[in-house]
Amino acid sequence: MNLGELRSPSGLEDLYHPVMAEIKEIKRLTGMETYYRIELPGGEDLGHAPGQFVELSIFGVGEAPFSVSSSPTLKGSFELGVRRAGMLTDVLLRQKVGTKVGIRGPFGNGIDVEKFKGRDVLIVAGGIGLVPMRSMINYVIDNRGDFGKLIICYGSKSDQDLLFSDELKKWADDPDIDYHVTVDMGSETWKGNTGVITTLIPGLDLDLPNTVCCICGPPVMYRFVLLALKSKGLADENIYMSLERRMKCGVGKCGHCQINHSYVCQDGPVYDYPTIKSLQEAL
Ligand SMILES: Cc1cc2nc3c(=O)[nH]c(=O)nc-3n(C[C@H](O)[C@H](O)[C@H](O)COP(=O)(O)OP(=O)(O)OC[C@H]3O[C@@H](n4cnc5c(N)ncnc54)[C@H](O)[C@@H]3O)c2cc1C
Ligand code: FES
Repeated sequence: MNLGELRSPSGLEDLYHPVMAEIKEIKRLTGMETYYRIELPGGEDLGHAPGQFVELSIFGVGEAPFSVSSSPTLKGSFELGVRRAGMLTDVLLRQKVGTKVGIRGPFGNGIDVEKFKGRDVLIVAGGIGLVPMRSMINYVIDNRGDFGKLIICYGSKSDQDLLFSDELKKWADDPDIDYHVTVDMGSETWKGNTGVITTLIPGLDLDLPNTVCCICGPPVMYRFVLLALKSKGLADENIYMSLERRMKCGVGKCGHCQINHSYVCQDGPVYDYPTIKSLQEAL
């Protein structure tokens, strides 16, 4: 199975029927976000690309899209990072290890990792945007020889809201990763950078023609990150963004996710910046 091929775990033609998968591990990440490790029947691989998402359902409650947070290099199960937002995520939070949930997908285009190979990879993640970007980060880490420098910029509201804190420590200590983190407002014990994520960008040491950047975060972040990257001199065609829109079907049928002529669930959620510029309602 090629990375990123549109499929359902139950078979290529079966995009509408969820497969019953089992929650194998649950960990609270912050007050609002929870980690889930989920196993498909028989430990089948999800076969996703970084940046793709699944539709998760709980019968009698509903279905919602969630980015796959684990790298395709994790075998036998996959990981999600879910923020409590409303009906479904509330009920999901009350589930225990062993609960069965429905899974459709992986859906969306994801990141075309081939285009990133041989190049320096800059990841700019704000808040829960780290969830999908973590898949790409760990993919690069697990295939280190295929990529140039790995530069991570992560911004969060506060140090209490930082996701995957154990992994952040590893990235910070890894001499092979140029890791930068900032929080809008730090607690008394916070010793790192304070300020919005754009404050990290001017200081980056970028090999411009050889750097590709992927951005994911809250809608308000994109415009300012783009301005900062542009003043750094990064070319539009080297900038990719993952967009979030309200979704229902996940497979290009219902129109809920439409931006101009584009269905984010199929053409996205990852777009290159030149394409985004042609979609007036995108940012
Ligand atoms: C491609 C994609 C990837 C995503 N990845 C992630 C991820 O990795 N992690 C993650 O946590 N989330 C992710 N999301 C967002 C996630 O899908 C939503 O948070 C989820 O659908 C919420 O479902 P819910 O039933 O819990 O919330 P809902 O009950 O649908 O509520 C969600 C929000 O909408 C508001 N709302 C609900 N109904 C109404 C109404 N009638 N009028 C006004 N406001 C209303 C609620 O107050 C709440 O703020 C992703 C979304 C997309 C499209
Ligand atoms: S979610 Fe239905 S068309 Fe995109």
